[in-house]
Amino acid sequence: SSVANKLIECIANNNINPSSFQTIFNPESSLFSLLLQSRVQNLRYINSTTKPLLILTPSDDTQIQSALLCSREQGIEIRARCGGHDYAGISYLSDKPYIVIDLFNLNEVQVDVKEETAWVQSGAQLGELYYAIARQSTHLAFPAGLCPTVGVGGHFGGGGFGTLVRKYGLAADNVIDAYLMDARGRILNRKAMGEEVFWAIKGGGAGSFGIVLSWKVKLVRVPQKLTYFTVTKTLEEGANKLIHQWQRFAHDVHEDLFVRILLLNVGGGDDKKKKTVQANFQALFLGTKDRVIPLMNKSFPELGLKAENCTEGTWADSVLNFAGFKPGVPPEVLLDKTQMFKAKFKAKTDFVTEPVPESAFEGIWKMMLEEDVPIVILEPLGGKMNKIPESYTPFPHRKGHLYNIQYLVKWDKNGKEEEERHLEWMKRLYDYMEPHVSKSPRAAYLNYRDLDIGMNSAGGKTSFSEASVWGQRYFRDNFKRLTEVKGMFDPENFFRNEQSIPLLHK
Ligand code: FDA
Repeated sequence: SSVANKLIECIANNNINPSSFQTIFNPESSLFSLLLQSRVQNLRYINSTTKPLLILTPSDDTQIQSALLCSREQGIEIRARCGGHDYAGISYLSDKPYIVIDLFNLNEVQVDVKEETAWVQSGAQLGELYYAIARQSTHLAFPAGLCPTVGVGGHFGGGGFGTLVRKYGLAADNVIDAYLMDARGRILNRKAMGEEVFWAIKGGGAGSFGIVLSWKVKLVRVPQKLTYFTVTKTLEEGANKLIHQWQRFAHDVHEDLFVRILLLNVGGGDDKKKKTVQANFQALFLGTKDRVIPLMNKSFPELGLKAENCTEGTWADSVLNFAGFKPGVPPEVLLDKTQMFKAKFKAKTDFVTEPVPESAFEGIWKMMLEEDVPIVILEPLGGKMNKIPESYTPFPHRKGHLYNIQYLVKWDKNGKEEEERHLEWMKRLYDYMEPHVSKSPRAAYLNYRDLDIGMNSAGGKTSFSEASVWGQRYFRDNFKRLTEVKGMFDPENFFRNEQSIPLLHK
């Protein structure tokens, strides 16, 4: 299109680095679709008719700068993409004319073992960060998500939690510096952007404020030998009771122990076994087997953990285990950029503040058995999360929150009707859970983005009360502060998307 051509011309004119032309792809380019689709995690959006004017794959900061300035001049939106795991695809979809800046070439990780820190570029995936740390140290780690292909850019910018959350909090809690490009193309570190902006990008959705180029993180200490285990129980084997008991134990036990539950359907279909729900109790303990078994037998004896369920290994081994790799795979799989778990899916999330009654879980099983591929994940909080104040980073669901629930449904078949069927099921499950989860407001988590809970108005003018509907669900009282930072730092609202922090209009 002529707009795209104008943009290309502007970017070329602006750019001091002529090689940048190799990093701009328009829809006529044979690589365009491949590039666009390779980082689409939610396959619902793989064939979307909404396409960017251009995709840029910058290999240095000046290319991002010129793309940003030219887009701004021409009134074109920017979508920054790192891992492309956004649940609603907003890193590569927009209703307005837009370009995608995909940062995957900017994926350097520099670990400083002595200082126990690392600089990681946003375009790295979590696996690359974990790999770099593990290569250099067997006693350092970083507390972030489980899936190695999740991008650092989106993940840190939205919070980020995984198996170390009870010991060390969120990924965002452990960020100590960053380089952010603002709407004028300036590159600002923590000192230059100021503490308020630095606070906002650590979980408030960095994409509302600029493009984060890299993050400095505080690494955390782990023992050289850790223990992980999975114990599975079906409903027939008493899963319902165990899950109920887990609720009292998982958030309250020593913070070295993380036990989550993954619920899924097994059996049925061609399988000879009856269709049922299975609970996988998956755990990481920051210590040896001979310590975790007595601890489990004391605080959660009902699960009946045995030595043969447990594997000892390094933190890197545990990362591979939680990412679903078989024992013995080389750690280099963490560098593989092929997204894992690609599927058409819809997800929603809740936080639990009071144990859910046993009878309420029965309703979940009933609904799960009506679906083909439902997954429900219960992840414990407590520990360090109880000690970090609600306003420390924008993510507010801390003290008093027992665990996070994520409901997912996946499907393969194409078609609107098929999609509607699964979305309707999800809505039913979410409505069913309302009495049992956090209230006023019912909490949500930005990294499990859910556009159902509200969006900015299409005209670009959103009032505080409109935006608060979803803003408070993600950020509670931190939402107001985020809007103040937004007003101060990006008064033109250049960095906007469906759920960006809005400029407020009375
Ligand atoms: P993507 O590139 O799609 O970006 C997400 C958002 O951030 C978009 O709005 C984008 O514009 C913006 N953005 C990206 N890069 C930016 C940058 N450099 N500067 C500014 N804005 C930027 N979460 C979790 O907490 N724990 C977990 O264990 C998991 N596991 C997991 C598994 C799987 C299979 C999926 C699909 C997702 C998760 N997540 C998760 C959720 C994940 O943390 C969330 O989707 C992140 O936002 C993904 O970051 P990406 O960079 O991959 O997304």
